[in-house]
Amino acid sequence: MKNKKVYIETYGCQMNLADSEVVSSLLHDDGYEFTRSLRDADVALVNTCSIRDHAEQRVISRLGEFKRYKSNNPEMVIGVLGCMAERLRSKLLDQLRLVDIVVGPDEYRKLPGLLGAAFDGEKGIAVKLSKVENYDDIIPLRTDGVSAWVSVMRGCDKFCTFCVVPYTRGRERSRTLHSVVREIEQLFDRGFREVTLLGQNVNSYRDGEHDFSDLLMSVAHIDPKLRVRFTTSHPQDMSDKLIRAIADYDNICSYVHLPVQSGSDYILELMNRTYTIDHYMKLVGKITSTIPGVALSTDIIAGFPTETEEDHQATLEIIKEVRFDGAFMFKYSPRENTKAWNMGDDVPDEVKTRRLNEIINLQRSISLEINKQTIGKSFEVLVERTSKKSDSYFMGRTDTNKTVIFPEGDYNVGDYLNVKIYDANSATLFGHVVTRQGWVDVRIAVEA
Ligand code: SAH
Ligand code: SF4
Ligand code: F3S
Repeated sequence: MKNKKVYIETYGCQMNLADSEVVSSLLHDDGYEFTRSLRDADVALVNTCSIRDHAEQRVISRLGEFKRYKSNNPEMVIGVLGCMAERLRSKLLDQLRLVDIVVGPDEYRKLPGLLGAAFDGEKGIAVKLSKVENYDDIIPLRTDGVSAWVSVMRGCDKFCTFCVVPYTRGRERSRTLHSVVREIEQLFDRGFREVTLLGQNVNSYRDGEHDFSDLLMSVAHIDPKLRVRFTTSHPQDMSDKLIRAIADYDNICSYVHLPVQSGSDYILELMNRTYTIDHYMKLVGKITSTIPGVALSTDIIAGFPTETEEDHQATLEIIKEVRFDGAFMFKYSPRENTKAWNMGDDVPDEVKTRRLNEIINLQRSISLEINKQTIGKSFEVLVERTSKKSDSYFMGRTDTNKTVIFPEGDYNVGDYLNVKIYDANSATLFGHVVTRQGWVDVRIAVEA
């Protein structure tokens, strides 16, 4: 569509960020241009998340704000994409009259057609899930940068009883190793220095010939200057081979996100997480003894149906035992049509809030202790951008995924630096640059 401008806003997980880049690529090929301002937009798209009620409410109130722009520009086409589109379907068109099109995660190829029809006043909906769609042939449209998110599989077959993802994203399917590697080679040539391989459960990655550790190692081989990260590993099926690969490759980052969800075996069973705390602790033991200096993070849900005070104490215990570097912590939010929906929602909101706060405070104090131990040590840091708070500071991350702030200097985004830490809080390390790494020189020497 010539001269039409698209505005896209993205909510939810990194998978959605990656999908917005696929959507941008499809629309770019159809002749659309992009704008960062809603005021200039002919098309406004929101890529949405359904994981918790709060995530959906945010989008609904944001769409309320879109009304103002649409009344100034009645021709504007408004589209809802992503997980809410899949979950709520035609309800979105019925209930939010300003919405023109609703497109689920497996139907983005239909967007150009649906938008074309919408300019002629026709509302449209496409929400079929697919067993095969993985957008393997589409090169996501990314702005240049240092870090890229690369989707390596879609969907989820785990059916944790609290979770909407298997319903909004459909069945598991993987891209081929060769297509992922080709995409990342091109990213490296464009200057990207870090990739995060994405899947709801990367341990079930299979392309017929290769498993996830094969993929991870192939990506790590692209260049020693490329940092490789991944998310998420399900604790049930993280293989020894994968742990070995993280330990053996310098450029596969020593950081594992391993959601535990609860410290109580009883609750884990109700959640259909398919592992016990004993299994989880053995896995953590294997990871920490095989990968020196590894950082671990987790996800935790407070107030799952029937959770007792004792279950909650067990969650605090596991946090103390593992000593996670960080955690994403949530109040349980019932989702319609999931199995847990039928278990009721019997933990009162004030109890959920109190338990969540106890979890957050404990985790914060552990993160602080762990981060304080970095003071006086030096780490290799990849420079990502100027600091949000001040132009005279840069921000980068350690291999273990810790954010580091350090003064600006004679170096660029994408450089590797050695940074010595002089202070830390529970979320951030502060340091001085010690030396630049010899990487660049070594490579020039090799190529010459
Ligand atoms: N596939 C990933 C997680 C995807 S969702 C995994 O299995 O780890 C991210 C996190 O959101 C989950 O780990 C869980 O902690 C949280 N979450 C999912 N559904 C939720 C719900 N109904 N209420 C509260 N938190 C939820
Ligand atoms: Fe949801 Fe469980 Fe799948 Fe993660 S593994 S996306 S929590 S169903
Ligand atoms: Fe949300 Fe869908 Fe991701 S529900 S967390 S955007 S897969």
